[in-house]
Amino acid sequence: MNTTSVWRGTAPEAAFPTLQEAISADVAIVGGGITGVTLALNLVEEGISVVLLEARDVGFGSTGNSTGNLYETVSRGVHRIVDRWGSDVAHAVTTARRSAVDQIEQRVRQFDIACGFRRCRLHRYATSENAQASVKNEYQASREAGLPAHLEKTLPAPFAPPHGSVLVLENQAQFHPQAYVRELARQAAAKGCLIFQNSMVLEVDTDQRVVRTVNGTVTAREIVFATHTPKGVHLVQAEMIANREYGLATPIAKNAFPPGIFWGSGVARLSVRNVEVDDAAFLVCVGEEHKTGQEDAILSLDRLETAASAHFDIREIAFRWSAQNYSAADGLPYIGRDATDCFIATGFETDGLVYGTVAASLIRDLIAGRDNLFAPIVKASRFAPLKGAKGIAEETASVLKSLVKDYVTDGDKISLSQLMPGNGAIVKVENESLAVYRDKNGALFAVSPVCTHMKCKVHWNGVETSWDCPCHGSRFSPDGSVLEGPAVEPLQRKLLKA
Ligand SMILES: Cc1cc2nc3c(=O)[nH]c(=O)nc-3n(C[C@H](O)[C@H](O)[C@H](O)COP(=O)(O)OP(=O)(O)OC[C@H]3O[C@@H](n4cnc5c(N)ncnc54)[C@H](O)[C@@H]3O)c2cc1C
Ligand code: FES
Repeated sequence: MNTTSVWRGTAPEAAFPTLQEAISADVAIVGGGITGVTLALNLVEEGISVVLLEARDVGFGSTGNSTGNLYETVSRGVHRIVDRWGSDVAHAVTTARRSAVDQIEQRVRQFDIACGFRRCRLHRYATSENAQASVKNEYQASREAGLPAHLEKTLPAPFAPPHGSVLVLENQAQFHPQAYVRELARQAAAKGCLIFQNSMVLEVDTDQRVVRTVNGTVTAREIVFATHTPKGVHLVQAEMIANREYGLATPIAKNAFPPGIFWGSGVARLSVRNVEVDDAAFLVCVGEEHKTGQEDAILSLDRLETAASAHFDIREIAFRWSAQNYSAADGLPYIGRDATDCFIATGFETDGLVYGTVAASLIRDLIAGRDNLFAPIVKASRFAPLKGAKGIAEETASVLKSLVKDYVTDGDKISLSQLMPGNGAIVKVENESLAVYRDKNGALFAVSPVCTHMKCKVHWNGVETSWDCPCHGSRFSPDGSVLEGPAVEPLQRKLLKA
């Protein structure tokens, strides 16, 4: 299945070279999503020299595969933060996020970025009777967190009448995330930041402060993992869960759909918006979240199409995609220095276009030697087993269940001859379990199914043609190379005898 997001399919390319030399800078940033690129620009504006290394191309990760909504609240509900951390912390979160949305707007104006930035309303509503209480609960929590939320009774056409009240937040925003981040990267480069694409970091020597790619090295006094989840084995991974979510975009007539952020909760949990790119307009629907590597990706995408069709007139699907998010058990992101004195920025859930911008200001301040009021709240070294205990226990149980299932039953094993073109499966070959993909022309790719991060067993993802690890979200191509997640080493390649 060809999967490209509406954002990556409609944004101009950004050309940057591959790292081929040994260079040095004040700061090495690993990762060219919104976090890395915004930080790079923030730092060069301070006169701090920066090298940014991106494994593929700018926006390749979740940034270019998101929904492009910008809001001061959080999508899973600010009530989680109020309940766990209190209204002062929740207020600090919404204040930092409001400021980040304003910063994005300023950047759009400053560089005249053609990314369709617009202010709009956010609507949170129930799609079924039993979700009504959660909307009311979230309204109370929003007020406690200092958000100017109010309740209304209706939604604009073509939405069906909601069950109960609609929570509305004015003055939120939307943009085209891929167009924004690519232009921001160009602006950072114009100000002296060295940006390299197709330059995957394979090794980080935290003692010597050296970052290595296949053809080059960067020596830097500060190293930032803007890789969505830190690379390698890290304490925060024990507290986070990796989820995948699906998106589709269907062509619509211009002005056929009202502007705004629409979050339906209940039987159908859908995030819906429209987008206009040049002469075309699309309705974007995002949903069907599940833990990475723990559900059938093709069925999940089918379910999203069914749910979207139940509510909207979906005749043709122009773009389908999927992307990852990482949620922390205690509901706050991790931003700051880790145990090796590198910076990390992770645990953004589905709110990281804004949290990534928050992180870019916070890390800039710490590198520049300035205080940042938000830093103690989201510090990466926090570990709150009491506050997060329930979440940790549930997630650990889920991961263990997956491990046990894999190692006892060995997954859905089939024989090599049963493996159809375009499919992947765990196959037993001469008493060895292999992760085998047969491409459309019949060619076979075999790799070890043991994830190189911490040895869980990978699962086939038929939507994105990848091997996905259920434990911490590492994903690999059929040839074993790392696509995303904490793993650094590729899956071990295996030879199949003809
Ligand atoms: C379906 C979906 C919808 C979402 N919608 C929204 C939304 O509407 N609003 C919102 O605020 N948030 C949203 N999010 C969350 C948001 O997209 C992410 O939190 C955010 O994009 C993270 O940005 P990032 O720069 O930290 O990571 P990424 O965008 O993932 O960038 C990380 C980059 O690091 C690179 N990288 C990884 N490993 C290496 C390596 N070894 N060497 C070099 N480079 C490497 C990757 O290639 C990637 O480009 C959504 C998430 C999902 C899954
Ligand atoms: S991602 Fe951690 S074991 Fe695979």
